[in-house]
Amino acid sequence: MPSLSQAAAWLASSERVVVLTGAGMSAESGVPTFRGLDGLWRNYNPLDLATPAAFAANPTLVWEWYDWRRSLVAATRPHAGHLALAQLELLGHQVTVITQNVDGLHHRAGSHHVIEIHGSLWRMICTGCQQLQLNRQPRLRTLPPLCADCGKMLRPGVVWFGENLPPLAWEASLEATREAALLLVIGTSGTVYPAADLVPLARQNGARIIEINPDDTPLSALADLTLRGAAGDLLPKLLQ
Ligand code: OAD
Repeated sequence: MPSLSQAAAWLASSERVVVLTGAGMSAESGVPTFRGLDGLWRNYNPLDLATPAAFAANPTLVWEWYDWRRSLVAATRPHAGHLALAQLELLGHQVTVITQNVDGLHHRAGSHHVIEIHGSLWRMICTGCQQLQLNRQPRLRTLPPLCADCGKMLRPGVVWFGENLPPLAWEASLEATREAALLLVIGTSGTVYPAADLVPLARQNGARIIEINPDDTPLSALADLTLRGAAGDLLPKLLQ
C-alpha cells in the first residue's frame, strides 16, 4: 500500500509526534464508540447522562451509567494499536497522546505522555471539598459514592457537555500540537470541540497530518494523507 509507506516515511522523519485519539481507537478493545451504528449516543441520550444538569437531577442514574462503563472497560485490554503507539516512544520519537477517551487504555499500554482532555473514568471529584480521588474499583459499592473526607457526593471525573476542558490539560495539548512535526488523528469523528480544533492548529503550525479511520470525517479534508482502516490493524503495520 503506497500511502502506508508514505505515512511510515513521514513518521520515521518526525521527532515530535502528537497523536489525537477518539473512541474508534478503543473500539477493537471492545469499548463502544459514541456515534457509530452501535454507538452509545444511539441508545442513550447524552442530555440525561452527561451534563451537569443531568447529574443534579438524578445523580444515581448518572452514576449507574458510569459504573456500568467502568465495569465494561475494566474487562478490556489495550490492543495492538495502543501497544504500537507506546512502542513509538521506544523508537526515539517524542510522543504526546492527546485522548478524548476516558478509558485509560493508552496508560495501560505503556504510553508515558498521555493527556486526557475529557477526563477519566477512574477519577472522581468531590462536589463538596473538590478533592480529586483515584478509584479503579470496577463496581462501586454504593451509588452515588461519597467522599471519605467530607461525606459529600463524588462526581465522575469526566468532562460533561457544557463544561470546559481541564485548563492545564488543554494548555498542554495546545503547546504539544503547536510543536508537532506530525499529527496522527485516530478514531475520532472530529465533531466535538474544542478537541477537533487541534487539527487545524497543527496544520497552521506546519505539521503533517495523517488520519486513521475506516470512514471519512470532517477532518479528512485537512489531512495530508488518510489511511482507511482500523487502528489495531494499521498502527502495527505503520511501525513495521
Ligand atoms: P465518535 O463515536 O464520535 O467517533 C468514533 C470514530 O471512530 C468514527 O469516526 C469511526 O469511523 C471511527 N472508528 C470506528 N472504529 C474504528 C477503528 N477500529 N479504528 C479507527 N477508527 C475507528 O467518538 P469521538 O470522536 O471520540 O465526549 O467522540 C468525541 C467525544 O464525543 C467523546 O470524547 C465524548 C463524545 O460525546 C464527551 O463525553 C465529552
